[in-house]
Formats: sequence, structure tokens, C-alpha cells
Amino acid sequence: MLVLGIESSCDECAAAVIKDKKQLLSSVVATQIAAHSAFSGVVPELASRLHTELILPVTEEAIKKAGIEKKDISAVAVTEKPGLLGSLLVGVNFARSLSYGLGVPLIGIDHILAHINASQFEKKLEYPYLSLLVSGGHTLIAKVNDFNKIEVMGATVDDAIGEAYDKVAKAYNLGYPGGIYIDKLAQSGDRTAFRFPYPKLKNPYRELDMSFSGLKSAVINQSEHFRYKERSKENLAASFQYTAINYVVSKVVKAIEITGIKRVSAGGGVAANSYLREKLSSLENDGVEVVLPSLKLCGDNGIMVAALGSEYLERGITDVNINAESRNKAYKGYMNKCRQNA
Ligand code: KG4
Ligand code: ZN
Repeated sequence: MLVLGIESSCDECAAAVIKDKKQLLSSVVATQIAAHSAFSGVVPELASRLHTELILPVTEEAIKKAGIEKKDISAVAVTEKPGLLGSLLVGVNFARSLSYGLGVPLIGIDHILAHINASQFEKKLEYPYLSLLVSGGHTLIAKVNDFNKIEVMGATVDDAIGEAYDKVAKAYNLGYPGGIYIDKLAQSGDRTAFRFPYPKLKNPYRELDMSFSGLKSAVINQSEHFRYKERSKENLAASFQYTAINYVVSKVVKAIEITGIKRVSAGGGVAANSYLREKLSSLENDGVEVVLPSLKLCGDNGIMVAALGSEYLERGITDVNINAESRNKAYKGYMNKCRQNA
């Protein structure tokens, strides 16, 4: 069983091939960071245009590196939602024609599920487990009951954590994407240099929901009083990171308390953050089993798409009628509810 996974939901054009659910044969990621960094953020129109240029060479390279022939592919899995609509359409249409041409099944992949399952490709946790999904577009804590069944227990009511990292970095001209730069600067900073407010939500009953826009604004507004000689970028990065990460980890701890489930995983670009990894790993001291994805599986990649595709294919779940959608309505309903109650 050879599954080709294609990812084009945001600013990475990626493809990977997995054999028999377990063996990674190839993974190619063409990042568009250089193109978007001039704007300190992803420009959707530019992203979709670049995907149209990259998708064929990226897929061909993944097939070549895997040492297989196109005709050997058993199924094509592709991210169908949520993400940038134009970018998703490029991937979905490309994958649809490829699967049609090869006469193999097409499998639509939910990007959130792919991030959540990513760590399980390397090391499995027993179900149910808790997953912290932290990316540029999403921040949520879910109880994972099966590879395709999650219950969202809490989510951000405003910005995603990665978005807060990126906007803080943009305000201080620290580099793009901001998370990586802030994480690096924070290593040599003093986290006590600034004291930022811990985010608070109005609704006490949704204790696993989160908010990052207030913290982001507090950090950005420091710029007016910011004196680089006395108060460095490193100190600002360390203080922001300390607050943001301890805040999400406190929510994970709360989720463990509420559910009694002592198995935790993480996924998404921010799961690459060194301080988050350190804090989550330290939960092992309290008897929590923690499985974190390796760095190549945190940011957007084709491996997580092919891995989830393999799960579906094994069970015969395929669907050629997939459609690109900017949102996953199932999660959207939950988020709207959060907004009304916040
Ligand atoms: O999962 P991802 O590649 O794309 C989305 O689905 O959004 O996540 C990208 C996000 C960006 O906001 C980026 O700044 C953040 O992940 N990120 C990090 C780190 N590496 C990437 N944030 C904090 N620390 C990092 N080391
Ligand atoms: Zn992602």
C-alpha cells in the first residue's frame, strides 16, 4: 500500500509517500517563506499562484525520491480543509486529476486531524488521549477518541497562538514567520524583564477556552516605551513566550484534571517551540505519557497527510467528491459558540 500525500493549505507546498502505513519513503516541502516574508505574513493570492508552480515538481520529486513509479501508487490523499481556499483548490484539483489518471482512490484530509494525528505516525498513544493543536490558524485542545474522531474541549476565542507570535514579531520586525525568531531570541532573554497579563476569559464555565489577542496587544503596545538598550528584544521575546506557553500548558493540565486522561500529544507549527516542548515533556514527572511529533512533523508537511490517508485507505474510506473548503464547519460551529459566550 503506497499512499501519496499532498499538502497545499497555506504557504508550504508539500508531498510525501508512505508505504504500508508505517514506512516513510519520501517527504518534500517547498516553503514559500521567502516570497511572503516581504509582507510579514501570508498573502493568499501569492500563495495560490506559487502552489500552481510548485505542485507538479514537488510531487514528482516526492515520487522520485521514494524510488517508486507513479503506477505503483495505491491512493492520493490531499488536504481539503480548512485553509486558504485558493491554495486548497490547487492541491485538490491536482490530486483529483492525478488520482483519476492513475485510476486510484482520492482521499480528502482535514488539516486539523492531520496535525493531531501527526505525532502518532512515530509513536502511538492509546485512545483516548488529549491533543494540543497549536498552529498559525488554530489553537485547540481535543480529546482524541480515534484517528478520525475528536471532541474539541476548548479553543481560542480570538487569535491563534501562532498568529500572536507572528504579529508580535511583525510589530518588532523580528523576522517571518515570527514563532521561530521569537523562540530563538527568547533563549538568551530574561523572561522576568516584562510582566504581561495572563489572559482571562469572561465565561468561567469554558475553562479550556483560550485567548491570545489581549496578550498580543499588551506585548505590541510595549513598543512605545521600548528602550532597546535597557530592555532588549531578547527579554521581550522571553517574557512573551513565557506567558503564552505557560498559559496553554495550564489549559492542558486543566484538561487532564477534568478528563483524568494522562496521555498527551501536540501538533501544529507551534509544537516545534522549544519552551512548549520542555514544559509538556515535564508533565511526565507527574505520570503523564507525552508524545510530541518530531520537528519535521510539526509545521505543514505531506507526511501527516499521507499518514492519515493510509488510515482511511486501510478501512476502505475514500471519496472522490471532495471539495476545497476554507473552514471545517464542524469546528466552526464550536468556535462561534465560543465567541457568543466569551
Ligand atoms: O502548522 P503551521 O505550519 O501552519 C498552520 O497550519 O498554521 O504553523 C505555522 C505557525 C506560524 O505561526 C509560526 O510562527 C509558528 O507555527 N511556529 C512557531 C515555531 N515554529 C513555527 N511558533 C513558536 N515557536 C516555534 N519554534
Ligand atoms: Zn498547519
